[in-house]
Order: sequence, then C-alpha cells, then structure tokens
Amino acid sequence: MVTMIPFLLPLLAVAIVESVCAFTPQICIVGSGISGSSAAYFLRNYSAEQLDIYVFEQNSQVGGRVAVVDMGDGSKLEAGGSIIHPKNLHAAYFTEILGLKKLQLADDDDDDFGMWNGSAFIFKTQKIVSSSFISRAWISTLNKLAFLRRYRLGLFYMNNYVAATLAKFLRFYDNSKPIFETVEAMLKWANLYESTQTTCERELQNYGLSDQLINELITVIMRVNYGQSKSISGMAGAVSLCGSGGNFWAVEGGNWRMAAGLIQLANASLLLNSKVDSVMKVDGGYEIGTESGDKRFCNAIILATSLDESQIDFRPPIQIPRRKMQHTHATFVRGIINPDYFGMPSVSDVPSFIGTLEIPTIPFSSINVLKSYANDDKIYKVFSRMAMSDDLLDRVFSIRKITKHFDWSAYPHYEAPEVFAPFVLDKRHLYYINAFENAASTIETGAVAAENVARLLLSKLGGDLLSLQQNVNSRKEMDQYDL
Ligand SMILES: Cc1cc2nc3c(=O)[nH]c(=O)nc-3n(C[C@H](O)[C@H](O)[C@H](O)COP(=O)(O)OP(=O)(O)OC[C@H]3O[C@@H](n4cnc5c(N)ncnc54)[C@H](O)[C@@H]3O)c2cc1C
Ligand SMILES: *[C@@H]1O[C@H](CO)[C@@H](O)[C@H](O)[C@H]1NC(C)=O
Ligand SMILES: *[C@@H]1O[C@H](CO)[C@@H](O)[C@H](O)[C@H]1NC(C)=O
Ligand SMILES: *[C@@H]1O[C@H](CO)[C@@H](O)[C@H](O)[C@H]1NC(C)=O
Repeated sequence: MVTMIPFLLPLLAVAIVESVCAFTPQICIVGSGISGSSAAYFLRNYSAEQLDIYVFEQNSQVGGRVAVVDMGDGSKLEAGGSIIHPKNLHAAYFTEILGLKKLQLADDDDDDFGMWNGSAFIFKTQKIVSSSFISRAWISTLNKLAFLRRYRLGLFYMNNYVAATLAKFLRFYDNSKPIFETVEAMLKWANLYESTQTTCERELQNYGLSDQLINELITVIMRVNYGQSKSISGMAGAVSLCGSGGNFWAVEGGNWRMAAGLIQLANASLLLNSKVDSVMKVDGGYEIGTESGDKRFCNAIILATSLDESQIDFRPPIQIPRRKMQHTHATFVRGIINPDYFGMPSVSDVPSFIGTLEIPTIPFSSINVLKSYANDDKIYKVFSRMAMSDDLLDRVFSIRKITKHFDWSAYPHYEAPEVFAPFVLDKRHLYYINAFENAASTIETGAVAAENVARLLLSKLGGDLLSLQQNVNSRKEMDQYDL
C-alpha cells in the first residue's frame, strides 16, 4: 500500500487541476422522447466543445409518447406516435444514420373508409374484394370519384392548404436559418404564425372549403389525429391534414428505436427510472433533484416534456401560459367488430377505417383495423376522448380476446389564438422544447424544436462561457469537500 502513494499523488493532482481548468459544461435533459433524444443528438452534433449530456427519464424505457404495445402474440404495434410523413426530414435522417429500416405503410385507408354519425354511415367507400389488379385499381378510382362527387373542388383547396403549410414548414430545414429565442419568432420567420392565431375552420373557409367538407371529412381527420374538433388552430389543423395523405412510413421494430439510437449516438448518459421532481437555481447553474433523492449539478437544463401535467418544483417558480393537454385513450382489441352495433349485416360490411363526426353521443373518435389474421380475428385500434368501458367494448366488438388500454396525455388542447411559452424559461439556461407543441405536436416538430433549442443553448452558453466557468470553478472548489 505504502509504495503506491507516490504514484497516486501526481495522479490526484492532475485530476484536481483538470476538474478546475478543463471546464466541461454539464447539460441535463429531462425526458427521453423524440424531443429529448434529438436534443442530445443536436447538442453533440453542433458542439465543437466537450459536453457531458445526461438524459433523465422517469420511465424504465425511452421514447415517451412513442411506444409499442405488445399484443401478446409477438406482434408489436405503435401505441402512440405511429406514422411519419414522407417530408419529415429529420426523422428520415435519424433513421438513416442510425442504420434503422423504414417500414413503408400501405395507403389503403381511402379504399375502405366509412364516416359514422352515431346511427348510420353517411359516406362509405366500396370495399375492394377482388384480388385482380385491374378491378382493384378500378374500384380505387371509383372511390376517389365518390369523394370528388361529394366534396368537389373542396378537395383540391384542401390539398392546396396542406401543400402551402408544408412548403413553409420546410424552411426549418434550411441550414442558414437563424437561432430563435421564442416560438413566435420561429413561426413568424416561416410565415406560420398567423395560422396559429385563427381556427382551422376559419382558415379552411378562407381557402374555399365548404361547410359540408369541414363538418365531415375535415372533422373526421381532426378527431383521428388530435382527438379534437374543427376549432383547433389552423396550423395544428394543417399538420393533422398532412397525416391523411399517403406514403407514410414508420421505423421497423418501433419508432422508439429512433430515440434510443439518438441517445446512444450522442454518447449521453441515460438515467432511467429517474423522475425529476425539483429544479433549483444555484450558483452557476441548477441542481436537479429526482424522486429517489439523487441530486445533480447542471450548467443548463433542457426540459423535453410538456410541463402541463408534470409536477416539477421549480425554485424560483417559473411562469408559463396555462395549457390543457388533450387526453387520447388508445384501446387495442384483438377480436372482431360487431356489425350489429353499426347496423350492418356482416363484418365485411363494416369499413376497416371508421371515422366519426363531432356528435357528443358518439363514444369514440375512430376505429381502424391494424392487422388481419382471419375474417373473424383482427387487431383494432380505437381512439376515444374518454376511456372505453368493458360494457361499451362488448357492444362494439362481438369477440374480444385481448384488450390493451393506454391513456395518453397526448397533445395540447389547441385553442386559437395560441399563446406560447418561451424557449428560455428564466432568461438563463433553463430551456423548454415543448413550448413549440402549441403550434403542433408530432415526432418531427419535436425534432425541429429540439434542433433550435440545442443551437440556442450552445450559442448562449458560448457567450456565457467565461462567466460560467468562473462560477463553476468556485463551485468546484467547494464541491471537492462534498465528494
Ligand atoms: C395516441 C397518439 C398518436 C400520435 N400519432 C402521431 C403520429 O402518427 N405521427 C406523429 O408524428 N406524431 C404523433 N403523435 C404525437 C407524437 O407522439 C408526440 O408529439 C411526440 O412523441 C412528443 O415527443 P416529446 O419527446 O416531445 O414528448 P414525450 O414523448 O412525451 O417525451 C417526454 C418524456 O419525458 C418523460 N418525463 C416527463 N416528466 C418527467 C420527469 N419529471 N422526469 C423525468 N422524465 C420525465 C416522459 O416519461 C417521456 O418519456 C401522437 C401522439 C399520441 C399520444
Ligand atoms: C453532424 O452532422 C453532420 C451531417 O449533418 C455530419 O456530417 C457530422 O459528422 C456530424 N458531426 C458530429 C460531431 O456528429
Ligand atoms: C345520421 O345519418 C342518417 C342517415 O343519413 C340520418 O337519418 C340520421 O338522422 C343521422 N343522425 C345524426 C345524429 O345526424
Ligand atoms: C462518452 O462520454 C464519456 C463520459 O460520459 C466519456 O468518458 C467518453 O470518452 C465519451 N465517448 C466518446 C466516444 O465521446
């Protein structure tokens, strides 16, 4: 033992000198969903300096609102964020650099679709039963014509609206974009702010859509994608309409793999089962406290979760605009739907995608077939605003072998005009990615907002580096006694 001391002493001296001189900012991220994981990735990617990145996650797995449900038969299905748009460039890039596979999703929803008003299908497409390509294509065309006959030019106006919004959104991939301190500034730069200040209904009327189209097809899409009505904001409405086109994809094995891969690629330290319950401002940064009593010093904190239902104790308290989250109950049923419930003679007469109108007595927003094993054995996904009771499920389904329930605090309850929390909550280094969710909530918007917050943090940290370093040095000297 004694002979080791001469070796240890110089090492110890080096360690102390390093901890004082080589300043490595400690960045803490709260949440391992798409926002938190892409923030970790972008921090690493944009930073020329050394950074230590810690990701706190309350659950035992990463991904947050992107998760799979295991139906007990080996099939894992997306239970939360499921479809990715072909123009979602960050998601596509992540998938590529992580070596994940894209799973192309079939475009056949339009071909077996019904709009339910609580007592009848007010619109129903022809079911394709033939396996011959010619007649499939023919029926598919007939179905498109049926939509066209009902809504006429409105469908083109609708596409124009979606295309115009998408074109503006694509500006966020511009490498020369500025760094934004507020969500308003970010949206204004892309000419998207106005659409967050009026309702989707009003916007679409301005684009020439008829009330019938708005009250039927548009309403159906808003209910499926955001569990809400035509009174959501124009921006959220356009994003939701984007989710009704074609060419969607998902990550093979689950979209959560993106989050897992990004955290790994960023070489961030992942702390699972670590629920953050306090954030306290201290000299030179913050002290994060977890439910289990762990404490960690951070120079900067990125909050990558919506704060509306989290109970983090901020000292000093933070002030952000009130926001209500829309809950979506996702119920997965393996079994078979009950044609009687829909007044249909047989199961094959029930559309595989059932959308619903905004009528309070309808107890669900949508029901669709996710997987078909046999004519009397399928997996369905039901979205509803309230939980589906067993009694109700027993009326809607005639056979129910497996049922799984999810209650998601899903996305903001959109209310135009939207007001936004800032990206920086305390004018220092407490950042909030999900302030952007009032514009729209998707996998891609999470990544886009995370990129901006990562750049904002690095730019502010760069500027503050000197003063921060002095603070940290004095802290570190004190800390040595605690260690
Ligand atoms: C049913 C449903 C369907 C959807 N469909 C789609 C779709 O098809 N396509 C699409 O693009 N988007 C879809 N979305 C939206 C999309 O899933 C979300 O916008 C996105 O996943 C949000 O990611 P996030 O990282 O910002 O938040 P989250 O995924 O919510 O991540 C936040 C993370 O923080 C953790 N956390 C929270 N508080 C704490 C704390 N105090 N301490 C530690 N950890 C904490 C949470 O456990 C969570 O893991 C859907 C959402 C739902 C609910
Ligand atoms: C950052 O991303 C670019 C591509 O966008 C890549 O070429 C580069 O290697 C990345 N840098 C790091 C440090 O990850
Ligand atoms: C639903 O549609 C049917 C058929 O068009 C109609 O008779 C019924 O009144 C409608 N119900 C509601 C609640 O609008
Ligand atoms: C990853 O981070 C750890 C510290 O958390 C560090 O020791 C290691 O060198 C890093 N690895 C790479 C490849 O950057």
